[in-house]
Parts: sequence; C-alpha cells; structure tokens
Amino acid sequence: MELRNFGSTGLTMPVLGFGCGTVGGLMVRAEHKEMLKSVEYAIDAGINYFDSARMYGDGLSEIHVGAILRELGVSDALVGTKVRLSGSEFNNIEATVSTQIENSLRRLGSETVDIVYTHNTVGKERKIDDGQVSVEDLEHVVIAFEKAVKSGKIRYWGFNGLGETNAIKSAVNLYSPSGIHTCYNMLNPTSGYSVNNTFPYQNYHELITECTKKGIGTVGIRILAGGALSGSTNRHPLALQDVAPIATGDTYQEDVDRTAAYKFLISESFVDNLVEASIRFAISNTNLSTALIGLSNFDQFQKAVDFANKGPLPAEALDKIIKLCSAA
Ligand SMILES: NC(=O)c1ccc[n+]([C@@H]2O[C@H](COP(=O)([O-])OP(=O)(O)OC[C@H]3O[C@@H](n4cnc5c(N)ncnc54)[C@H](OP(=O)(O)O)[C@@H]3O)[C@@H](O)[C@H]2O)c1
Repeated sequence: MELRNFGSTGLTMPVLGFGCGTVGGLMVRAEHKEMLKSVEYAIDAGINYFDSARMYGDGLSEIHVGAILRELGVSDALVGTKVRLSGSEFNNIEATVSTQIENSLRRLGSETVDIVYTHNTVGKERKIDDGQVSVEDLEHVVIAFEKAVKSGKIRYWGFNGLGETNAIKSAVNLYSPSGIHTCYNMLNPTSGYSVNNTFPYQNYHELITECTKKGIGTVGIRILAGGALSGSTNRHPLALQDVAPIATGDTYQEDVDRTAAYKFLISESFVDNLVEASIRFAISNTNLSTALIGLSNFDQFQKAVDFANKGPLPAEALDKIIKLCSAA
C-alpha cells in the first residue's frame, strides 16, 4: 500500500486508512473473528492506521482496536482517537479533555496514543446543543492536548474539520494542529478542488490544499458518503441503518439518487463500480495523507484494498467528476 507523509509530523500513513467508526460498525458490532481477520489483513496489506473514537460504540471501538492489535502482537500500528465535549463539559474543557484522554488510553490498553482529534464540529459560536465548539473553546482543548504531549500520553493532536468552513480555517491558522479530518468524496470534493459557486452543498474551499501547504496532515472521511456512493440504499445488517449525510444532500436517499450522474465512470470503462471510483477518487488527491474507509465486514475491506491498489483515477475521469460538481 502506498505510504504518504502525514503533514510535517515525520509519520507516514497508508493511503487507505482503517475506519473503526459506527457507520460501518465492523470494530463495534462484528464478531471477534471478523474483526481479527480484518485487522490482520490490514496489517499484512500495509494498512497500519486505525481511526477510532470514544464515541464509537460508547468506547467499544477503542477496546476492540487495542485488544486485537495486542492479540496480533502488533505494537507499531498508528492509532488515532477523539475527544468530544458535551453539555456541562464545556464549563471545564481542559480537565474534560485530559480525563477523556486517560479513559481512551485505559480502553485502548496503552500508555500512549499516536494522535487525538477533537470530534466536535467547529463554528464561530459555541453551540452546546449541536455539539459545536467555538474557535476560542479550542484554545483550552489545545492546552490540554499540549499537556498530554508533554507527559507522553499522546504524540500528536488534531481537529475535526467539520462545521463552518471559515471557523475551521481560523482554528487551523491559529493553533496549527498536526492533522485534520475532512469530508471528501465525489459528491462533495470541495476540500480538494475549487468548484463554481452554484455548488449546492457546503464548500470547504480547498481545506486539504491549504492544510498541506501548512504541513498539516489530512485524513479524508466519508469517502463513500457513508455508503451512499455504492448507489444502493440497502444497508449491511451490521451497519448503522440511518446515516445522516455530512456536507452532501439532506437525506441519504438524496445522496444515493445523485450517484446516477456518476455511472458514466462505469459505462466509459474507467472503473467497474462506484465504490471503486470513490476510493480511487479520494486517493487521487496526492495532498490527502490517508483516506479512511468505513466497513461492516471483511469482504468490504478486502475489496477496498484491491480498489486502492489500482491507484488513482485517470486525469480524464477526475476532470469529468469535477466538471459535474461545478455544473451542479
Ligand atoms: N471526524 C469525524 O467526525 C468522522 C465522521 C465520520 C467518519 N469518520 C471516520 O471515517 C471513517 C469512515 O467514515 P464512514 O464510515 O462514516 O463513511 P464511509 O467510509 O463513507 O462509508 C462507509 C459505508 O460504505 C459502505 N461500504 C464500504 N465498503 C463497501 C464495499 N466494498 N461495497 C459496498 N459498500 C461499501 C458500507 O455501507 P453499506 O451498509 O451500504 O454496506 C459502509 O458502512 C469512520 O470509520 C471514522 O473512522 C470520522
């Protein structure tokens, strides 16, 4: 698997990263043997980045990632997790973040974790009910993160690049995180490409490009739009059955309907299916450090690895995808 620099950290990341979230649910709800087989396959394929969070399965994802890496005797994988503030925790941000890091380490069964991100969205204003932190709130998060770096509990820290585009960019400029998560897919490629202003969804105004210039690592999320880019509304039995879109249509169905416009990628023989197109689209952006894939089972993962190994999409296909978004 191709490796890419993770900003200026000195870490390298596999171009396809292992999503341990709750949408696919593999590392939360699958049987032990399915998780074990998938993680073992990942390591053998050179995929050594696992993205977890305390929110995924209320800690279960972290517990499973830590336990399975130990069972396989893998001590050099890169693990990311996330802290998330809610309710009264906004009154004591530093202490909350420090406690959440301790709890994550306990669940992971580790004394240190490679990278911790914020999981809250970012906005100009704090909106507790929406789980949104303000840019100012992040100053207190960063103080706690830096303390955790000094004490060796975490190696690097980053932000969730979801929320209001201007606020995300302000936070990146003010605090210089090591990495960010960013929504990036064929339905919303704006984090990597400039599209014209008729584009109907959130415009991230080339966040990936800007972060790369600043030496900040970029982690692509939702590369399959939560599964909608498969072109089918059917969900795997282990997957979250109701997926709320991020920065695309109002509903999952709307996103699925929009995939019809991308079927030319199959008829013009660029790819065999839209999952392949989506994965290869994400990794075509050489500024993206790693593209996370969300999974329900081993089979989905094996296919994702095969697709990623086919490499980037041809320039002609990329051009057509971006023109389609610009015309939307
Ligand atoms: N920072 C954040 O706030 C944030 C937010 C979201 C995600 N993330 C991270 O990013 C990771 C990926 O995100 P995600 O799971 O939300 O979205 P995603 O990768 O866009 O979509 C995952 C879904 O795609 C479908 N899929 C995967 N492989 C397939 C295949 N080979 N064939 C057909 N369908 C396939 C599955 O749905 P079906 O049920 O249709 O099979 C799966 O549940 C997460 O695990 C998490 O680590 C972070």
